[in-house]
Amino acid sequence: MSPKISEFALSTGGSTVVAMRRAADALEAKGMSIVDFGVGEPDFDVPPPVKEAALKAIQDGNGKYVDPAGLPELRNAIVQYEQSRHGVVASADAIVVTNGSYGALSTIMRAVLDPGDEVLVIEPCWGPYRQMVRLSGAVPVGVAMPTIEGRFIVESDRIAAAVTPRTRAIIVNTPWNPTGRVLSRDELTGIAGIAEEHDLWIIADEVYGELVYEGSEHVSIASVSPDAAQRTVIATSLSKSFAMTGWRLGYCIAPESLAPVLTKINHITTRCAASIIQFAAIAAFEQGLPFVEEMRDIYAQRRNAVARGLNQIEGVVCPLPEGTFYALAQIPESWGGSRQVAESLLNETGVILTPGSAYGASCEHYLRLSFATSLEIIEEGLGRLRHALPPA
Ligand SMILES: Cc1ncc(COP(=O)(O)O)c(C=O)c1O
Repeated sequence: MSPKISEFALSTGGSTVVAMRRAADALEAKGMSIVDFGVGEPDFDVPPPVKEAALKAIQDGNGKYVDPAGLPELRNAIVQYEQSRHGVVASADAIVVTNGSYGALSTIMRAVLDPGDEVLVIEPCWGPYRQMVRLSGAVPVGVAMPTIEGRFIVESDRIAAAVTPRTRAIIVNTPWNPTGRVLSRDELTGIAGIAEEHDLWIIADEVYGELVYEGSEHVSIASVSPDAAQRTVIATSLSKSFAMTGWRLGYCIAPESLAPVLTKINHITTRCAASIIQFAAIAAFEQGLPFVEEMRDIYAQRRNAVARGLNQIEGVVCPLPEGTFYALAQIPESWGGSRQVAESLLNETGVILTPGSAYGASCEHYLRLSFATSLEIIEEGLGRLRHALPPA
């Protein structure tokens, strides 16, 4: 028998999205055609200037270790981009370049959490938050949010009620996976007020910050007040905005007192993010934005088609997503739990949807649909669902 495995590691769970995809792969191997509305990954290719910059970096021999905080030119490009696009004012010393936002989030958690600390996780939430908190030895505390007409909102009283003397941080995700919401300035100000009152860190996941549609505006919680700027650590990446998921390039924006600690942890755990990709990322910020606009326009058409199609199914309520590339559809309780509904839909129709239960108990009667796929595939999948779903 092998020696004991870490309790923190054993307390983490697996990914529902991956489990659904594996089940679909088994059906596909038997000949079933699969429509994948599960995976949260852009179907677009990387902008050409980014590819060219990566090739040039290889040809120029730029494949050496770089500063664990990131290339100075990249950190300067991030400063410009964040200020002009999201109103986040930070110096290059506040930026730490990481391996995607997974890398940013886990680095931040190691930097601010001690074993036994509690972290408030606004639910519904992206599953890995809870797992990353556990891996740091801390305790995730889910705070279920209410809905208005099927649309989740952040009610700060619920967050305030969950604060204990052990609470150390709140995780805030806007644009919000899986809900498709973009949090309003009022919602963010409410959260920031609680953090100020109880002296908490705000861990702000802004990975969908570029994917915001007409009528909504992405506001960074770091920008709502001078106090919020001092206690917010932003985690974000180029994965969703520039269609660079596999390139694994993200960054933290931290108060300057915290940034050296993040750099130290990034150094100990990864040495630095891949140098070639850091050179490519400079091109993304300097030349990639027109491609981001193009992708956003196409996502906007898809979200309209998805919300319209889902609302045409009897019993299903799907608010128009304000941001991200996810639609979150409420289903009748009479259909049963979301996991069971998603599994039987996969088996009957070959359509992969993510059960709401993956995002917390408050999301049990919901299904998440990723529209990071073509309009043709969206119409095909919706057609299959319309035929298969029972009347409400
Ligand atoms: C809310 C959220 N945060 C972070 C990530 C991680 O993205 P990456 O590490 O590719 O930047 C994802 C990916 O699906 C996500 O949905």
